[in-house]
Amino acid sequence: MRDLTKENVTEAVLDKIGDNTEPRVKEIMEALVRHAHDLIKEVNLTSDELLYGARFIQDVGKISDDKREEGVLLGDVLGMTALCEILGDIVRIGATESSLLGPFYRDGAPVREMNFDISLGDNEGEPAFVSGAVFDSKEKPIEGAVIDLWQTAPNQFYEAQMGQPKEYDDYAYRGRFITGNDGKYSFRTRKPVDYHVPTDGPVGKILKGTGRHSWRPAHLHYLIYKDGYQTIQTELFNNDSEYLDSDAVFGVKESLIVKYKKNDNKKDAEKLGFSGSFYEGNYNFVMKEDLSSINAADQYSKRASMSSD
Ligand SMILES: [Fe+2]
Repeated sequence: MRDLTKENVTEAVLDKIGDNTEPRVKEIMEALVRHAHDLIKEVNLTSDELLYGARFIQDVGKISDDKREEGVLLGDVLGMTALCEILGDIVRIGATESSLLGPFYRDGAPVREMNFDISLGDNEGEPAFVSGAVFDSKEKPIEGAVIDLWQTAPNQFYEAQMGQPKEYDDYAYRGRFITGNDGKYSFRTRKPVDYHVPTDGPVGKILKGTGRHSWRPAHLHYLIYKDGYQTIQTELFNNDSEYLDSDAVFGVKESLIVKYKKNDNKKDAEKLGFSGSFYEGNYNFVMKEDLSSINAADQYSKRASMSSD
């Protein structure tokens, strides 16, 4: 029997990982143990501080449910999600760049007709018309691409978010649009606004405790999928947000910034069903061919509703 020391405790734990462990699990667990031990040694973590960390993780679990994913938010504010997306973009080169999913995705948004008003008649905020097309890497329009999108209401909350001041109909500010043979999409909404990530839970303590603000620059979330193509998971940011350079969750990329232009033309407004001037945003997506992508819709909803079982 040899006593555990600062020098050999890491090895002792790594030795316990069985040889039959699935290789990827082994790789991740070994690195997790090594890095966690290095962190403890680097900062001389005390037992009380470790206990605080354990309770913190328990609190992240306690506040989470099917409408709130504090664990996702924790990875987001620590830049871990952004780093995974950056690494993924190296593989997905040539496609629209990705950004994080965020904690507010809901599976099962209704399929809408083009030009549909996803605000479901909300009269707050600024009216907006968003349009564009989905192309392949040879600039050919893609037919049958599903564009699943969601955004905050003008009151800075997602429709299903807890604690928000207004009752919205189910799936307000969400919808799925399916491109026709021209690859085009378009919808009416209210212009996305800057909003705070939730700070009333444990993740809020990190932001407050390290002198960080909780703002996200205004954006629309997009998931775009079709069999035979890599799924796009991204966000498009308003060019006029003051938080583009200081997103609380590090999601902004230059290529994902959309210019919103004010349109005062009465005829345009009438044609689109607006009562006055409105903002226009336009963005074309590029999907990368991937023959291994089959059942893209099921795959995505499985990923988005993934549990650790
Ligand atoms: Fe968001």
